Amino acid sequence: MPRDAEYRSFDLLGHARWPEVNDRTDLSTAIDTVTAILGHDLPRSPDFLGTEHHNHLRRTGHYAGVLGEALGWPRALTVLTALATPLHDIGKLAIPGEILEKPGGLSADEAALVRRHAIIGYEQLARWPHPILRHAAVIALSHHERWDGSGYPAGLTGTAIPIAGRVAGLADTYDALRMARSYKPAFTHDRAVRVILEGDERTRPQHFDPDILVLFARGHHRFRDIYEAFGDPGDGDEMAAA
Ligand SMILES: [Fe+2]
Ligand SMILES: [Fe+2]
Repeated sequence: MPRDAEYRSFDLLGHARWPEVNDRTDLSTAIDTVTAILGHDLPRSPDFLGTEHHNHLRRTGHYAGVLGEALGWPRALTVLTALATPLHDIGKLAIPGEILEKPGGLSADEAALVRRHAIIGYEQLARWPHPILRHAAVIALSHHERWDGSGYPAGLTGTAIPIAGRVAGLADTYDALRMARSYKPAFTHDRAVRVILEGDERTRPQHFDPDILVLFARGHHRFRDIYEAFGDPGDGDEMAAA
């Protein structure tokens, strides 16, 4: 159960000045507004950004925008998804920082608690009527589901997973591969693409919607451009992996 400070953050979600979503919304400016709220305005922003880097949040929004466009979505849906995707992990506000930041392996109980961020994010976002928060609730709940049913919290398969969650899941995975994490170094763009399209010990192509994967295979250079435009010095600069 979230404690007081977490509740204040979650309450503030409903009262923040979120951007308007329509055909004329400027995506870059609106994504910056969303990530500024997440990074500065919530009582627990520093904790949240301890695990979810500001530029990571911005980039996931931009990747989602690229995928929405490639999927041929109406502009307003693309904008809505791009603005909601940076909120995918907001449920982590309710998980103690010591567990989120713990180096090395988590116990089974701790890992189960971390996985609860998907449901907590959904519950807290779904309390509010703003369209961005409504859409973000669906993304929070479904961004760890996998096409082959191996994800969580519900183990949904295929098109039973909301498409915005499938889009956000790929955006989040690509960016996590590019960044250094406690269990892995930062990967180059080419290596991140290879892991998504061919798999490695953690990630399988079967985790992703095959239609979205085709679009990614065709347009992944736009992910690289976004990473480079909103990158962090030192990330993704390993020697190209063989
Ligand atoms: Fe997550
Ligand atoms: Fe993330």
